[in-house]
Amino acid sequence: MLRLIDAKTKVYCLIGDPVEHSISPLIFNTLFKHLGVNGVYLAFHVKPENLADAVSGFKAIGIKGFNVTIPHKIQVIKFIDYVDAKAKLINAVNVVNNCNGVLKGYNTDGYGALKALKSFDVRISGKTVTLIGAGGASRAIAFTIAYENPGKIYIVNRTLSRAEELAYSLRGRVDVRPCSFNDLYAFKEADIVINCTSVGMYPNVNESPFDCSLLKDECVVMDIVYNPVETKLLREAKALGLKTINGIPMLVYQAALAFKIWINQDPPIELMMNTAYKALGVSDVS
Ligand code: ATR
Repeated sequence: MLRLIDAKTKVYCLIGDPVEHSISPLIFNTLFKHLGVNGVYLAFHVKPENLADAVSGFKAIGIKGFNVTIPHKIQVIKFIDYVDAKAKLINAVNVVNNCNGVLKGYNTDGYGALKALKSFDVRISGKTVTLIGAGGASRAIAFTIAYENPGKIYIVNRTLSRAEELAYSLRGRVDVRPCSFNDLYAFKEADIVINCTSVGMYPNVNESPFDCSLLKDECVVMDIVYNPVETKLLREAKALGLKTINGIPMLVYQAALAFKIWINQDPPIELMMNTAYKALGVSDVS
């Protein structure tokens, strides 16, 4: 399994707090091996108080690129040299590319979610899309979906002020409304619902963000949580006969765009999907 590491090996990594459960190292190292890239991908547990030092250290030693995960996606912007237009709008960076010492930040989360929907032939145009959550992931998905001509976006969040803030930043682009979990029309009218919160994520596998029985029969339910692959939300939606999309396609597509940004090559999606499903203990991918 181990490739030869030499003085030319390019180093990529993930920073987050925590990072121990990430499957990104497995996905990227599998790609490097498969494509013969002389690279290695590691995961570093970086506490918020050490973020500035970590990023300037990466620059000093020439780390070629890194992913950024919870809780650093917003704060990292302060320590890099350039943020692309979409990431600036979203106000979160999850991919940094080191271009000859200039650290450039991007956001591939929204792209990943959109590609996941498209890969299941889900069209956004004219549809009512309900996003659950108003954090970084929801922001990325909301801004990306806003450009796909949706009929309406509802943003449902536990803390209403955060939903209001996100809706405000989308105003003028799209018909968008902030909602609380008591605004049942946000569920009843939805054509597509995306859980952008961490509710249902391991170890809290018996939690679900809302009651699926509120949804229309034709509603598509997507969860960005990928561990477990089948969350309680998706299990309940499936039992009602609704179309579901788990968190793996989004994970894979956002990683594929990161790979493209770093290596300038389109990676094999199927290999990435299989690697991710296998890592999460799912052997039958059908
Ligand atoms: P991320 O960058 O992954 O989106 P985040 O910015 O911390 O992470 O946002 C997490 C989202 O999940 C928020 O919308 C949060 O709701 P609040 O804004 O009210 O905190 C939501 N969330 C987390 N735990 C939740 C729970 N138990 N019930 C409902 N919403 C929850």
